[in-house]
Amino acid sequence: MLNFALVGCGRIAPRHAGNLASGKILNAKLVAVCDIKEERAKAFGEKYKVPWFLDMHDMMRKMKDKIDVVNILTPSGDHAQHAVDLAFYGKHIVVEKPMALTLSDADKMIEACDRFGIRLFVVKQNRFNLPVVKLREALLENRFGKMVMGTVRVRWSRDQAYYDQDPWRGKWEHDGGVLSNQAIHHVDLLQWMMGDVESVFAKSATRLVNIEAEDTAVVVLKFKSGALGIIEATTATRPKDLEGSISILGEKGTVEIGGFAVNEMKVWNFVDNQKGDEGVLTHFKQNPPDVYGFGHTEYLNNVVHSILENKAALVDGLGGRKSLELVSAIYESIETGREVTINFMPEKCRLGLKRLGK
Ligand SMILES: NC(=O)c1ccc[n+]([C@@H]2O[C@H](COP(=O)([O-])OP(=O)(O)OC[C@H]3O[C@@H](n4cnc5c(N)ncnc54)[C@H](O)[C@@H]3O)[C@@H](O)[C@H]2O)c1
Repeated sequence: MLNFALVGCGRIAPRHAGNLASGKILNAKLVAVCDIKEERAKAFGEKYKVPWFLDMHDMMRKMKDKIDVVNILTPSGDHAQHAVDLAFYGKHIVVEKPMALTLSDADKMIEACDRFGIRLFVVKQNRFNLPVVKLREALLENRFGKMVMGTVRVRWSRDQAYYDQDPWRGKWEHDGGVLSNQAIHHVDLLQWMMGDVESVFAKSATRLVNIEAEDTAVVVLKFKSGALGIIEATTATRPKDLEGSISILGEKGTVEIGGFAVNEMKVWNFVDNQKGDEGVLTHFKQNPPDVYGFGHTEYLNNVVHSILENKAALVDGLGGRKSLELVSAIYESIETGREVTINFMPEKCRLGLKRLGK
């Protein structure tokens, strides 16, 4: 049995608390929560019937023999400092996406966890959506042949009130824009399916809200395989969310997963049909409950399984770093107006840094 504690009781926290407290995650339970905002910590503690704290160090010290894993659910710009501070207590760490906002912060987190002999897991729950798992299976079976093109589309709706609800949202220092916050899931999926990226060229705009970072971006990618890719990402879709999708095109097949959160199989066409292909569209046609996708339950199950069985996690610190590297390269291209190759040294990318000149 693994005992989990949460740091941060905000919007995403019910996904973690609800799963851990309900018994949906085998061999796991919630034992403590913490938030610097008393009303949030207290409300969570009372709802899930666990001790609540206002300071994570206080929680880690008082509960040190009871906690095995701590989940960092704080604003993105704080993940790195919180992970490095928490690593000291020697408990495994789950951190929400994006793991950090700069590659050097991501490296510090990985190093700290290595130094204290603990595991680091980065939340990428969409990898566990059933149609996504099915697509990955087809890729591993080499059903696509030569890869041609991969496209992801994030057409979501976030209005000014969404950004204004917390001071960290949309700020370069704490969050970034649609690429680093919302589309990082899709960036991760695109790279997972299409393989490593050679270069990116991107443009961004802030169209419908007043925030520092972008609400809209387009990216052209070249993969190391020679295939091409497109990322289309916006939180300026109005009046409501339209889609979160991925299309993979290869010499011998085409798959498209759509819905709001990459969880509805739309197209499953292969030159060489296999047994079971005819049922794929029916079996994977399901509507998502909301834009976060289905996967936190499966994601947390994977964390528990990896720890208890000492198996590799689907997304560890290095896996989380990979999508951050790609997003950072995209921001670098936006700032420089140039195509950026990977690996690269960020020079202009503003994500995670104080605004230039301020
Ligand atoms: N996986 C997903 O699909 C998904 C969805 C939403 C958010 N997220 C990520 O989760 C993180 C949190 O997002 P959110 O929307 O829940 O934000 P939020 O602002 O609603 O919640 C963050 C909470 O952390 C608390 N906090 C800040 N500093 C703290 C500290 N030192 N100790 C304890 N608590 C502290 C805040 O008071 C707040 O309640 C972000 O990184 C975001 O990108 C992931």
